[in-house]
Amino acid sequence: MPDFVGAVDQGTTSTRFMVFDHGGNEVGRHQLEHEQILPQAGWVEHNPVEIWERTASVIRTTMNKLNISASDLAALGVTNQRETTVVWDRRTGRPYYNAIVWQDTRTDRIASALDRDERGKTIRQKAGLPPATYFSGGKIQWILENVDGVREAAEAGHAIFGNTDSWLLWNLTGGSHVTDVTNASRTMLMNLETLDWDDELLSFFNIPRSMLPEIRPSSDPNGYGEVVANGPLDGQVLLTGDLGDQQAATVGQVCFAPGEAKNTYGTGNFLLLNTGTELVRSEHGLLTTVCYQFGDQPAVYALEGSIAVTGSAVQWLRDQLGIISGASQSEALARQVEDNGGVYFVPAFSGLFAPYWRSDARGAIVGLSRYNTNAHLARATLESICYQSRDVAEAMEQDSGVHLEVLKVDGGVTANSLCMQLQADILGVPVSRPVVAETTALGAAYAAGLAVGFWKNTDELRENWNESERWQPSWDEERRAEGYTKWRKAVERTLDWVD
Ligand code: G3P
Repeated sequence: MPDFVGAVDQGTTSTRFMVFDHGGNEVGRHQLEHEQILPQAGWVEHNPVEIWERTASVIRTTMNKLNISASDLAALGVTNQRETTVVWDRRTGRPYYNAIVWQDTRTDRIASALDRDERGKTIRQKAGLPPATYFSGGKIQWILENVDGVREAAEAGHAIFGNTDSWLLWNLTGGSHVTDVTNASRTMLMNLETLDWDDELLSFFNIPRSMLPEIRPSSDPNGYGEVVANGPLDGQVLLTGDLGDQQAATVGQVCFAPGEAKNTYGTGNFLLLNTGTELVRSEHGLLTTVCYQFGDQPAVYALEGSIAVTGSAVQWLRDQLGIISGASQSEALARQVEDNGGVYFVPAFSGLFAPYWRSDARGAIVGLSRYNTNAHLARATLESICYQSRDVAEAMEQDSGVHLEVLKVDGGVTANSLCMQLQADILGVPVSRPVVAETTALGAAYAAGLAVGFWKNTDELRENWNESERWQPSWDEERRAEGYTKWRKAVERTLDWVD
């Protein structure tokens, strides 16, 4: 058996390739950013061709740096930004339009029309999702209705859809049109019980079934197609892992038992709670989603609290306000003050996702007085990441009855130690970060490696998980309750802003 497993992590701002050994340790990586195309307010696009070229490039560079070849990889996994929608021509492999990114709000009319009648209830019931701009279904509909020739091409069977996992699998294999259950569960088109595309849901968006990829398990011994020998790996490797990035992080954090959860801090935050093979329907604004499916075992489900803007609020301090020069400076600036000085910042830039699902919300900074400085705003920004996480943690407890004893965290923002301390303070539970914080790529590698016997079972994966740091709550109950009450008041101020 070869020594390593490789994983492509195709994210919102960058694409990386990582190689792991049997202990789940990182052996090497390379990463490249791609352009964020912002044609008008609320629109966010990526160029799919650029994404594929960057993917090929990070694979090649990593393999060269490590001086290894395709035969050193036991398997290859792919994980991806979910919901982001690509439609391309199966005859030429050329996209008809840019990828419409998960953050894009151009489909708000489509989503709100669905939510006004019985169709909204059906989508909630069958797909486990509230009608929202976030998911792929409305984005496909928008492309069919607005890009010349795509409707006809779709009806003739030429135009096909995929999230960026399918797009990369298509390119890596030279034409396999497949996805996995976790990605499919983010489209509003898959029935969570049958794990198949649902004709009634497709009819709501007027999407021909022939556009859709075949849905496969997240870890599949049969593979998703053969990696072409003349591709970026310069040889054939078994392509056996595919899952959405947040589900991959849940696998990387070895949350394999019902009641285990993780919170990933990236552009946005995504808190996922494993609910086992039981489908738990949310009554408090969370999503029901597929967590993973390994081979022919039953699918495992999760409740998810998705938050659109967390790490990107720190980027906003850097890029739009210019009060910090790099994300890491937010910690030093926020540490200049002892508390938020009464300032609360709700970064509802794309409306509010879980648990509110209010596309009419817009951001607000409240509680300002002349006394306040940039440092208070930096601290309020870090607190906003943690308060939003508390909002979804509360909803999760109400939906599932599970009280988190400890919050497992990962993602870029977890390098900010003050933010992690604030998270423990605001939530009132310890926060724990593993040694390998790249849990997304690791989870995709685990899914791929399990399929080929590189790892025997999930117990073996659990042994790879080690804590690197733990933050204990330090606020008293009174301070915690007072802060949260003010936060909820601040959230109220952001609602009903857009007609
Ligand atoms: O649902 C969106 C999510 O998958 C994006 O994650 O890490 O690429 O921002 P990330």
